[in-house]
Amino acid sequence: MAILSIPDQNFQSKNPKEIQDFLAQKGILFDQWQAKETLSLQASQEEVLAAYEHVLQPYMNQNGYKVADVININSETPNYPAIRAKFLDEHTHTEDEVRFFVEGQGLFWFHLPNSPVFNVLCQAGDLISVPANSKHWFDAGKDNPSVKAIRIFIDMEGWVPHYTGSDLAQKYAAE
Ligand SMILES: [Fe+2]
Repeated sequence: MAILSIPDQNFQSKNPKEIQDFLAQKGILFDQWQAKETLSLQASQEEVLAAYEHVLQPYMNQNGYKVADVININSETPNYPAIRAKFLDEHTHTEDEVRFFVEGQGLFWFHLPNSPVFNVLCQAGDLISVPANSKHWFDAGKDNPSVKAIRIFIDMEGWVPHYTGSDLAQKYAAE
């Protein structure tokens, strides 16, 4: 279940339909998927992909995505502060950044034209597609990160982050 927040307007919504509509107006796809089977905490990449294949494969076929993998970040992840910093600076990609959250949570922040900065807390079951070339950053949290997510690509090269040099992410992270 996702939470949408607009910090500068003290606005928050937990209503999936309201969140989906708000994001659709910004060109961001948001959906919620169910696992076909219950996954164990130790589920392998193959088991995670198989549990969601019934929704993943049609979505990938319809949208021209070719590759899917699973990322897993938790408190045991080596060099987590460096990994967090890599995602936390404002950046863009030349292709859509599609994430489906299997476990845990993370905060996607958006800095779009003609819009206040907003964020979406994505949790298990949430699918989000950040459109190519839109300014964003991602935060799995300072302490005790926990996120397992499926990543979907047309071409993995497209995922390379292009940093904007803005310090906006740090300003919001400090609040
Ligand atoms: Fe990104």
